[in-house]
Amino acid sequence: MTTVLSALSVGVLLRESVRRLEAASFPSARRDAEWLLATVLGVERFHLYLEPAQEVAGSVAARVRALIERRAAHEPLQHLLGFEDFRGLRLRVTPDVLIPRPETEGLVEWALESLAPLPRPVAADVGTGSGAIACALAAACPALEVLAIDVSLAALAVATANARALGLARRVRIVAGDLLAPLAALAGGLDMIVANPPYLPSASLPALPPEVARFEPRLALDGGPDGLRVIRRIVAEAPAVLRPGGALVMEIGEEQAGGVASLLAAEGFSGIAARRDLRGVERYIAGRLGD
Ligand SMILES: C[S@@+](CC[C@H](N)C(=O)[O-])C[C@H]1O[C@@H](n2cnc3c(N)ncnc32)[C@H](O)[C@@H]1O
Repeated sequence: MTTVLSALSVGVLLRESVRRLEAASFPSARRDAEWLLATVLGVERFHLYLEPAQEVAGSVAARVRALIERRAAHEPLQHLLGFEDFRGLRLRVTPDVLIPRPETEGLVEWALESLAPLPRPVAADVGTGSGAIACALAAACPALEVLAIDVSLAALAVATANARALGLARRVRIVAGDLLAPLAALAGGLDMIVANPPYLPSASLPALPPEVARFEPRLALDGGPDGLRVIRRIVAEAPAVLRPGGALVMEIGEEQAGGVASLLAAEGFSGIAARRDLRGVERYIAGRLGD
């Protein structure tokens, strides 16, 4: 007796994957299924539609189905792919780091504006995580040296891999430590501190989407009772390491701009301003040390 195994095509596997994620109520079902299938096949997403009749080996289909099930259980797409794109850079991401967010690209833009007039700037990215901000700044500003600091050694392993893979390791220096403590030796020598600190109030964490609450590091999210625990410390410690006129540029949470502006003013910062993200939320704040 012969057993006829019906071959599975790219188009059929894509349809099946989209349906599975739609059944689990994923608004991004098609996009997620495309990314997972294309990545396993090693092709661009559009390629899936060029040759939908192409046959898929059973072992490949099994890998795709396993990934679709993990996505259906809310594992972030970026963890399954192993990367996220940030300002044109492909960054490795793991559960040890915050997945870089598109709004953080706005923070990088503002930091770059401040760095532009300086011939050989030195900056610190405090709470670097995957190294997204440090790498994006160094890639866009060839004269920049940036110290990429994090207290999580597991995160720093990812940042190190990213800086190396992008050919930026000479100018992105990975430093382990608690906020600005590793910068003490630079007293007064830093042109800029840029930070996307944990800024969510602790009580808001359980209500986050499961992708975030269950799979991203709490250390990257939890800003204490009012969300400002880490921000307060950065603002208080910054004047000791910035040069006069040096800038502190931070990403902040919704409705934190007024409170953070007061903290900055109390520590001797001037020219304090907030900017909005693409959703119109006051998301970034900056000030310069001194008058
Ligand atoms: C919101 S994540 C930002 C990650 C990355 N900069 C980005 O924008 O994608 C905050 C980061 O701050 C780090 N962090 C939290 N507390 C810290 C501390 N006391 N000292 C240094 N880093 C800290 C976390 O490990 C995490 O990587």
